[in-house]
Amino acid sequence: MSQLTLPEKASERITAPRLIDFKHEGRKIVVVTAYDYPSARLADRAGIDVILVGDTVAIMALGHKTTVPVTLDEMIHHTKAVRRGVKNALILADLPFGTYQASPQEAFQSASRLLKEAGAHAVKLEGGLHMAETVRLLTQGGIPVVGHLGLTPQSVNVFGGNKIQGRTSDAADQMLTAALALEEAGAFAIVLEAIPANLAHRLTHALNIPTIGIGAGAGCDGQVQVWHDLFGIFPGKPLRHTKIYADIGALLEQALRSYADEVRSDIFPTEEHSH
Ligand code: KIV
Repeated sequence: MSQLTLPEKASERITAPRLIDFKHEGRKIVVVTAYDYPSARLADRAGIDVILVGDTVAIMALGHKTTVPVTLDEMIHHTKAVRRGVKNALILADLPFGTYQASPQEAFQSASRLLKEAGAHAVKLEGGLHMAETVRLLTQGGIPVVGHLGLTPQSVNVFGGNKIQGRTSDAADQMLTAALALEEAGAFAIVLEAIPANLAHRLTHALNIPTIGIGAGAGCDGQVQVWHDLFGIFPGKPLRHTKIYADIGALLEQALRSYADEVRSDIFPTEEHSH
């Protein structure tokens, strides 16, 4: 009889069902984006639960103005790099704009590439009620899905900018209906972006699956932050919902200036750095 060998310690790996358990145990879920191997490795070593290969890669790493232009091949490329750095965290990859909205079948084809070719464990897609059938097809087909409600950045052109969502009582009720439909269709978590804190609290209590907030207050089951926002790497004024935990951006710029100065003034390299 052949022996079953497990490549990773199953007990430490974060899975979709474990994240649902975390909600019921009252253990907060920590999510951060990463788009490359060294960042993913650091996040995994730091005990981050979920690493999101977000389509914010378009803005943070590729220099686009919005998330709309990033392609599925680019998402696969970055997800593969992240996969190489991760042992325990769940790798969640965003389905990029234009690769899943046309039909549940299109979504299945795109999502299965993120799992098969790139090594993602789950996918995230944006949208409410109209996405429920897609979520159902994906989960029934073996692909764990996270929903994304509120300010869904792929719809920036419909919203006319990055505006807080769910402010009116009608909009709040619609978001609750959408969240319940996504849960019923099989989503294992929902990201809530840029919505009033009291609405996020209401959704969190109405759902059995975890909510992961960004700009949605402290009442969610977990939080997600964008890597570059945590480290002050992205130019411009930090957004209200972000917190800089280490101002690496300023440190990196200073280090680069020192390097340039030392090369130009013949201080680097020394004998010590030579062969
Ligand atoms: O792409 C991303 O980084 C995201 C987060 C903002 C939730 O979807």
